Amino acid sequence: MSNDLMRFSVAMPEDLLIRFDRLVARRGLAKNRSEVVRDLVRDALVEDDCAMPGVEVMGTLTIVFDHHASDLQEKLHAIQHDCFDSIVSAMHVHVDEHTCLEVIVLRGETGFVQDLANLILGTKGVQNGKLVLTTTSRECDKGTGHLSHYGEK
Ligand code: NI
Repeated sequence: MSNDLMRFSVAMPEDLLIRFDRLVARRGLAKNRSEVVRDLVRDALVEDDCAMPGVEVMGTLTIVFDHHASDLQEKLHAIQHDCFDSIVSAMHVHVDEHTCLEVIVLRGETGFVQDLANLILGTKGVQNGKLVLTTTSRECDKGTGHLSHYGEK
């Protein structure tokens, strides 16, 4: 497989293209349509990989909770100790007098990681949160050995 850039044409409605160009502009001067399309394709491929049963993934789970909620911290702690081999790290931030934010890094089989995240998210007292999955699949690596995003049109 070659990392040479291949060109192809894309047809889309004008209003969609106008909105896409606004997105490209918001991503900064170093980005152009081609670079943003590549980013979106890579994101879609990672998402698709992570949906395949059995694939190994890394996940970051961010949760927000009130540390005064009854025995919530103990429950969250117990879950993480029970699954210690799937929990890589956890960072706890005291947001204010009441609110805590925790970022938990998970690794393992995608179904298990999602189940574990849902268990934590579903624990009574967790106010909100989100799991973001990624893989380290070679096909999805951003590095291509050259810095094509510096000036490529
Ligand atoms: Ni705290």
